[in-house]
Amino acid sequence: MSERTIPLPGKVWRAQLRGVTHRYHDDASVPPVLDAIDLTLAPGEMVILSGPTGSGKTTLMTLVGALRRHQSGSVEVLGRNLEGASESQLTALRRDIGFIFQDHHLFDALTPLETLRLAMQLKAERYGKHDYRERPVEWLTRVGLEGRMNARPRSLSTGQRQCVAVARALINEPQLILADEPTASLDAVSAGIALDTLREAVRGRDATVLMITHDSRQFALADRVVSLLDGRVQSAPAAAAAIRHSSNP
Ligand SMILES: Nc1ncnc2c1ncn2[C@@H]1O[C@H](COP(=O)(O)OP(=O)(O)O)[C@@H](O)[C@H]1O
Ligand SMILES: [Mg+2]
Repeated sequence: MSERTIPLPGKVWRAQLRGVTHRYHDDASVPPVLDAIDLTLAPGEMVILSGPTGSGKTTLMTLVGALRRHQSGSVEVLGRNLEGASESQLTALRRDIGFIFQDHHLFDALTPLETLRLAMQLKAERYGKHDYRERPVEWLTRVGLEGRMNARPRSLSTGQRQCVAVARALINEPQLILADEPTASLDAVSAGIALDTLREAVRGRDATVLMITHDSRQFALADRVVSLLDGRVQSAPAAAAAIRHSSNP
């Protein structure tokens, strides 16, 4: 795996997929789930990934997040070419990415404060004692959980739990954030907080967000909407895509 800390001129991107095709089965008569996908994610952009259920959105996101190995084409993420990367290189890369899933994946034994402190340990070299005390409090306050920092996840609402998951994904300030239907089952208040927090990461510190959503009302938040259909990418400016989707649900 090649490391490139300073992007070459004209090659400034957070992720780039070229000609990526993916099959879950060897049967060549079945069309691939992803068919020769090209996708580039630039710094400081929020890209929404949309498309019908089963169109390959989650599969594509797991390839960008190095949660799954690509079968063909090339995948480059945060300056690293994933061709032939070792497991430990992939693990290191995943630590640089903020993941948010539809299902929050919190440990029930950990309070929100403990959850965030554990996340900070992935980047322990950056932090001192003071950070472990202050930073989780700041982040939980930011997502509206100042009164619930020591609660068990089970006692939180779905929306509050997802807000913990958002804070967990962002606390180390990753340059790349991948969110798979983060607001799908949330109340409007929690969804608003989650989306504002993601948007702020993009605007405030040039993070790149790739977010899967079915909700066309959210398309206006994005700099770009990428639609998947029959395993292929169709790009359109956010506004145009929102209009098309709302008139043709
Ligand atoms: N682990 C898997 N093994 C086999 N088939 C899968 C697996 N994951 C997804 N698929 C299939 O791949 C297609 C795309 O799935 P997915 O990427 O989850 O789509 P989306 O997120 O757009 O709903 C679907 O037909 C799904 O059934
Ligand atoms: Mg999915």
